[in-house]
Amino acid sequence: MTAEAGTPAVQELQSRIDELQTELTTTNHEILSLTLELDQRVEERTAQLQAAQDELQRTNSDLLQLTLELEDRVAERTDEVRMLNAELERRVEERTAELAEVNKELETFAYSVSHDLRAPLRGIDGWSLALLEDYGDALDDTGRGFIRTVRAETERMAQLIDALLQLSRVTRREMRREVVDLTGLAREVAEELRQADADRRAEIVIVPGIVAHGDRTLLRAVLQNLLGNAWKFTNKREHARIELGIVLGPGQRAYFVRDNGAGFNMAFSSKLFAPFQRLHNTGEFPGTGVGLATVQRIIGRHGGRVWAEGVPDEGATFYFTLGGDHGDQDDPAGRGQPE
Ligand SMILES: Nc1ncnc2c1ncn2[C@@H]1O[C@H](COP(=O)(O)OP(=O)(O)OP(=O)(O)O)[C@@H](O)[C@H]1O
Ligand SMILES: [Mg+2]
Repeated sequence: MTAEAGTPAVQELQSRIDELQTELTTTNHEILSLTLELDQRVEERTAQLQAAQDELQRTNSDLLQLTLELEDRVAERTDEVRMLNAELERRVEERTAELAEVNKELETFAYSVSHDLRAPLRGIDGWSLALLEDYGDALDDTGRGFIRTVRAETERMAQLIDALLQLSRVTRREMRREVVDLTGLAREVAEELRQADADRRAEIVIVPGIVAHGDRTLLRAVLQNLLGNAWKFTNKREHARIELGIVLGPGQRAYFVRDNGAGFNMAFSSKLFAPFQRLHNTGEFPGTGVGLATVQRIIGRHGGRVWAEGVPDEGATFYFTLGGDHGDQDDPAGRGQPE
């Protein structure tokens, strides 16, 4: 059996369908309007993004431009600096050559003057001796004392002249770099010091296995002077201790000679290396004051540096480096060990 139109059930169904259709139409409208709104917002956002992207591109290209300009300027400056450096190097070389020339002239001058001074000095000494021997009786004690003083001063001057000649020889001498057993050299020098002064008792500690690169004869002179000074300036100590060792610095090592002797006041440390400068009087510690000047010249010729630390009445340490010496060949295990 089919439901007939107009029956209440059909009418109800029809009205429900109408309702649903109206609802659908409303929903459709809403969807359409939402879609439109969405479209509009997407468009807006797209426009904003585009604008941001354009801005970014402009900034990027500005940045690129700046980078290029900066690179250009850096390149320009680098060229300028390179040119300045080359100019500076050339001038330093020129000055160094001039200085070397002047130094050589001065050395030659000092050498010949010292050499020529020896003969008249021998004359003064000889004539003073003749005066004393032949006419000594004609003088009283004071007169003879004066002549003895003249001879003592002459002797001192002869020592100073010899010291000058020794200093000058160090600079004039041809230099040959080789591998030098510094420990061995120091042991020889220590032995010489002991033999020359057999009554002295001193503990000499030499670190084994120290190898250096330099001129053997010149390095021997360095050790003779530094160990000789340490020996001399500890002569009033009951327990004298002298030490030769190495300290490792960044990229380079320094050798040192340390003693527990008379020491010195650090305020005068820069004077030590100048020729004839002494911080102790000759009566107490004899010497001409040329040893450390010799050391400084030798170390300078090796492209190194020498410096000192001291405390009055406690002791002194003299350090030196040798240019082009990197310390690969030592036996670090032995460092600091007594002989
Ligand atoms: N180990 C040391 N302890 C204390 N003072 C020192 C030491 N070595 C050097 N000096 C001081 O430095 C001065 C200069 O030393 P340098 O070796 O040039 O001369 P010198 O030893 O007096 O004489 P020379 O070496 O010519 O015989 C010394 O007179 C002394 O005052
Ligand atoms: Mg000396």
